[in-house]
Amino acid sequence: MHIAVIMDGNGRWATKRGLPRTAGHVEGAKAVRNTVETAARADVDTLTLYAFSAANWSRPPTEIAALMKLFGQYLFGETRRCVEQGIRVNVIGRRDRLSDNLLRSIEQSERLSASCTGMHLRLAVDYSSQYSILQAAQRAGQPAGHGDIATQDFERLLQEVDHSARDAGPVDLLIRTGNERRLSDFLLWECAYAELYFSDCLWPDFDETEFHRALEDYAGRQRRFGGLGDKSAKSATSGELP
Ligand code: FPP
Repeated sequence: MHIAVIMDGNGRWATKRGLPRTAGHVEGAKAVRNTVETAARADVDTLTLYAFSAANWSRPPTEIAALMKLFGQYLFGETRRCVEQGIRVNVIGRRDRLSDNLLRSIEQSERLSASCTGMHLRLAVDYSSQYSILQAAQRAGQPAGHGDIATQDFERLLQEVDHSARDAGPVDLLIRTGNERRLSDFLLWECAYAELYFSDCLWPDFDETEFHRALEDYAGRQRRFGGLGDKSAKSATSGELP
């Protein structure tokens, strides 16, 4: 099962407490640690966390610097624990706008965890789904130029663009915290048939109970992928949309 999470609400969590927004991100990083361990225990195959979108560069430089520092600290400090738990770490998104320090932490984390066979943790940093799709489309047009490409081949190209060696596959469940209902340019291709779960909980408050609440909700969904699932042929004539 592939779960993707849009971790929203750090800023509001801090503001509500009269703290600077960066304090919300620090608390959010703790929720990341907990969620990664909870997901690994729950036998999730792939967990993709939206840590920094390409659009987030428009935030104040101090907030960006604090976030980049937290990503580096997380990778530097947590990789060993991840490896102990068999968690393979990858970072998806653009790399050409990241600092050398952060790049070193990313590369080290990916190298040290490369042979792990447990949960696949993917952190999306400087990520834009539209950008990734465009990059993959350009690659698709390059070699033969005949413009005919199978869905699976295109997905492989997308994976190459996003620096994930192994196919992470489509998203099964997309969780967004923070009482917002948007996709925000996250895994648009991979979420084609994802079940969506929106939580009012602000990200720093997202804990094991909230995670299992989302899983329970997902367990009650009937996934039909545009087909009929176990609906009878009779009800199919009702014209109900997928
Ligand atoms: C959105 O909340 C959150 C982010 C843009 C950053 C996510 C970062 C973390 C969860 C912390 C560190 C992450 C890792 C991987 C160690 P917001 O700031 O937009 O909140 P708001 O909508 O309340 O303003």
